[in-house]
Amino acid sequence: MSGRFRKDPDPRFWRINRSLPFDWQLAAYDIDQSQAHARGLMEIGVLDAAELAEIDAGLERVRARMAAHGFQFEDADEDIHMAIERLLGDEIGALAGKLHTGRSRNDQVATDVAMVVQAHSLRGIELCGETMAQLLALAESHSDWPMPGYTHLQRAQPVYLGHHLLAYFWMLARDVLRFQFALDSAGVMPLGSGALAGVNWEIDRDSVAADLGFEHVTHNSIDGASNRDFLLDYLAAASTCAMHLSRFGSEIVIWSSTEFGFCQLDESFSSGSSIMPQKLNPDSAELLRAKSPRVTASYATLLGVMHALPLTYGKDMQEDKEPLFDAIDTIEACLDACAGMLAGIRFDRARMAAASGDEMLAATEVADLLVRGGVPFREAHGIVGDLVRDAVDGGKALSELTLEEVQRRSEHLDASYYEVLQRSSWLESKRIAGGTGSAPLAAQLESARETLAAVRARVGERRS
Ligand code: ARG
Repeated sequence: MSGRFRKDPDPRFWRINRSLPFDWQLAAYDIDQSQAHARGLMEIGVLDAAELAEIDAGLERVRARMAAHGFQFEDADEDIHMAIERLLGDEIGALAGKLHTGRSRNDQVATDVAMVVQAHSLRGIELCGETMAQLLALAESHSDWPMPGYTHLQRAQPVYLGHHLLAYFWMLARDVLRFQFALDSAGVMPLGSGALAGVNWEIDRDSVAADLGFEHVTHNSIDGASNRDFLLDYLAAASTCAMHLSRFGSEIVIWSSTEFGFCQLDESFSSGSSIMPQKLNPDSAELLRAKSPRVTASYATLLGVMHALPLTYGKDMQEDKEPLFDAIDTIEACLDACAGMLAGIRFDRARMAAASGDEMLAATEVADLLVRGGVPFREAHGIVGDLVRDAVDGGKALSELTLEEVQRRSEHLDASYYEVLQRSSWLESKRIAGGTGSAPLAAQLESARETLAAVRARVGERRS
């Protein structure tokens, strides 16, 4: 024990207080940070060049020791920061005690966590890019495959499969923006805030920040020591992204059922049954569906921890790490699995075409035909409703109604009624920008290619 303490911590306190069981994951960031801090201390003369070199080399040996097989922390190590300081003391003796000059664990831990959030926001962007690339490739190769589009999971209007897949591409493109926001908000360095008031040493914070890859330094030491917004920003981005993947997973589960038969996953992303030999279950898609609430729970947990917490640091904030690490592991595994699952998925053109050949899907087309003849849309909606009922009651398709039967419902209808019921016309009539018709879809594919190239360039730029 150190400082004012005469008693050792009670084991029952130690069990909830000790963060090493999870914050060991900060080790590499903490060492990088300590090396940059030591350089800052040398610049203001707290360390001389020889001491800096010794601390720097000592920290490298600590890094190697921790990475070695069989390495174990001591039960008395409270957290990763204290453990590294102890190990550095083993390596270089009393000099290790100079490193904590002008620093508190409060600004130290905030800085470590900001570094984690930066690294994994970038990784999130990169992984979104990989799934977007798979979606884009599938959209390109299935740009003219008709399928039913659904509302309420009822067949609604036909679309091209490529158009449907690109809907997910754009969701992920927005996730990229959210991860980028988290990356930027974690790009402000808290180090120098000290415990809360700043420190008594005029370390050049901008140069330490540049050393560690931060864009800026915090303006206010109180905010610097207590801010965890960047972590919440990451968790919000990850939660929304996981929700998108869950919707996609859910559709794949439905589409791969025998009832739909729209697609089949590769065996390497499916499992069998221990009792039913015929089964090829879409487990990867089911898990994309089910992992999402876990990420959301991490977000809710941290909002709960930070809620109503007085400034500045409270030990409560130590509870920020487990939700963060779990969310990182979960969203990265899901994005990675999603890209892999898509690389081997196969769609059934005939099944999708047959399902989209249901003529009832053309009801809106007939209504619009009437509108072109001057009938107000609401009235046209009613006329087509009558035609649908006539067809259903007579056990016929819409195109099997005779011209006489059709004209009994509206004198505005003529032979063109049968033309709009031609299957391809329902898709190609959607010529509006953003619609499913071939022309706007080609433009959309082009925009998607540009967006993906920009995402890749952003990652490449940041990595170099
Ligand atoms: N393990 C602590 C955490 O994760 C480090 C900061 C401790 N600060 C303190 N004043 N006790 O939050």
